[in-house]
Amino acid sequence: MRKKFLAVSLATVMGLGLLTGCGSESAPAESASEPAATEEAASAKEEAPAEEEASAEEEAPAASSANDKLVVGFAQIGQESGWRDGETNDVQWYAAQHTDTIDLVFADAQQKQENQIKAIRNFIDMGVDVIAFPPVVETGWEAVLTEAQEAGIPVILVDRGVDESCADLYATQISSDFIWEGAQAADIVGDLLEGKGNVVELEGTVGASAANERKEGFDNELADKYPDIQIIESQTGDFTRALGKEVMESFLKSHNDIDAVFAHNDDMALGAIEAIKEAGKKPGEDIVIVGCDGVKGAFEAMVAGEMNGTVECNPCLAEQIFDTAAKLKAGETVDKWIVSNDGVFRQEDAEAELPNRTY
Ligand code: AHR
Repeated sequence: MRKKFLAVSLATVMGLGLLTGCGSESAPAESASEPAATEEAASAKEEAPAEEEASAEEEAPAASSANDKLVVGFAQIGQESGWRDGETNDVQWYAAQHTDTIDLVFADAQQKQENQIKAIRNFIDMGVDVIAFPPVVETGWEAVLTEAQEAGIPVILVDRGVDESCADLYATQISSDFIWEGAQAADIVGDLLEGKGNVVELEGTVGASAANERKEGFDNELADKYPDIQIIESQTGDFTRALGKEVMESFLKSHNDIDAVFAHNDDMALGAIEAIKEAGKKPGEDIVIVGCDGVKGAFEAMVAGEMNGTVECNPCLAEQIFDTAAKLKAGETVDKWIVSNDGVFRQEDAEAELPNRTY
């Protein structure tokens, strides 16, 4: 069991040369120059031949229970958006900056819950100190979180939540307030439409807390404050630019009276912009576009006049994740929800803010 941990851990740390974190513009000088090794790390456990694992153990310092370092297993969802890549880069970059104190074991679940569960079970087998992961959907975690709890490994939920039935099975959640984000987006739309018009909604991944709660915040705020604005269509675009574009194309075919789009993330908003342009309309003028995340691409679109607003969702969580993991390893208690402080940006703020965007 220990051999496997070492093989994965080394593969992970070796592949971090070209990363930049949220606080940095350039790669750390001391990093190795291999390409990012997310998949290698995830598959190393199953695929590495026995000799390689053995040699990794020989080269590595004493590890596992005798390891003074903080060993964190991170089961990333995948690579669906620029925002997600920003979070991954930040986590890997931060760990690469602190190799004297941190061992990061990184797995990429390629958008599948079953892969996240498998990665978490691997981390439990390895005996990591803390497990961190963004749950791709809210439900279906009871069994694996119970296993982590029984193994005495604290779990940090990163950037998304799980349903109430699992409330006692994780230590803390570090994330934004998605209901607040949805409400902020509704206020931008309501204001720009002057309280009247038709909106279409591009939802995130079905069953994800980021999608469920942004929808709840947006829909409720519109209903409460802007009764003359209707949501005429709402469909998932799975948080990807490609699907955002595809779903927007179908909305445009069925409706010629769309006044605004609320996309649950900026990548889908950028896909919608492409669809609107191809349909011969002007995004940002003929149709108001508001997203969530605050990625660089959204700011560029706002500067170009093609998008009207974005509600930030901070992916720069690495320092908080590792600091919190260290506290949990030391047996300290932490807040159940560590909430990010996010901003709201409109077109008129974009030019000044663009140089500050790190993801
Ligand atoms: O959970 C956060 C969401 O997940 C981001 O808004 C989105 O871009 C990502 O895929």
